[in-house]
Amino acid sequence: MAKLNLAVLISGSGSNLQALIDACKDPDYPAQINLVISNRPDSYGLERAKKAGIPAFVVDHKDYAGRGAFETALQATLSEYPVDLICLAGFMRILTADFINQWPNKIINTHPAKLPDFGGEGMYGEHVHQAVLDSNAEMSGASIHYVIPEVDQGKVIKQETVPVLPDDTVETLAARVLEQEHIIYPEAVRMIAEKRT
Ligand code: GRF
Repeated sequence: MAKLNLAVLISGSGSNLQALIDACKDPDYPAQINLVISNRPDSYGLERAKKAGIPAFVVDHKDYAGRGAFETALQATLSEYPVDLICLAGFMRILTADFINQWPNKIINTHPAKLPDFGGEGMYGEHVHQAVLDSNAEMSGASIHYVIPEVDQGKVIKQETVPVLPDDTVETLAARVLEQEHIIYPEAVRMIAEKRT
């Protein structure tokens, strides 16, 4: 059976990318990563891609006058390879409706909370975990969801919860959530490849 062709977009350490790289090492896994694009030249995820022999590109948003020009450059790089699914993995840029609408139901993202809670504008990275701690919530989680123009409001594909502990800091909670992201992201991609979403 043909494998699902993935493009993975990153900005930082790329630990979710690494989870997908590791999953793809299994010859029976129904997806393969054809390219990695980072909007940041210093993203460690680029090293991870190179080590795995995956074509890796930088499309630096600072090199472009606006979101439109940046996304045109993204599209140009993506068009060089077969891509069935774009996986945002620690990718820190908001994509415009124009871009998203060119990839209907073909862009997914990992969000480090239990959507729809603690999602939406401004809810990214450590801001999410700080908001969870400030709310005294007893649980948080990780969510893999489809990307639609409304931030973090696309259909959830796979979700996992984690406990919030009394002595948690942003760092300890983030680490516990990240551990679950690494498990559910490859599972969500498998579900899409096997048309189970
Ligand atoms: C992850 O928690 C992701 O949800 C958030 O950035 C964190 C780091 O991602 N957007 P990675 O290690 O770069 O995959």
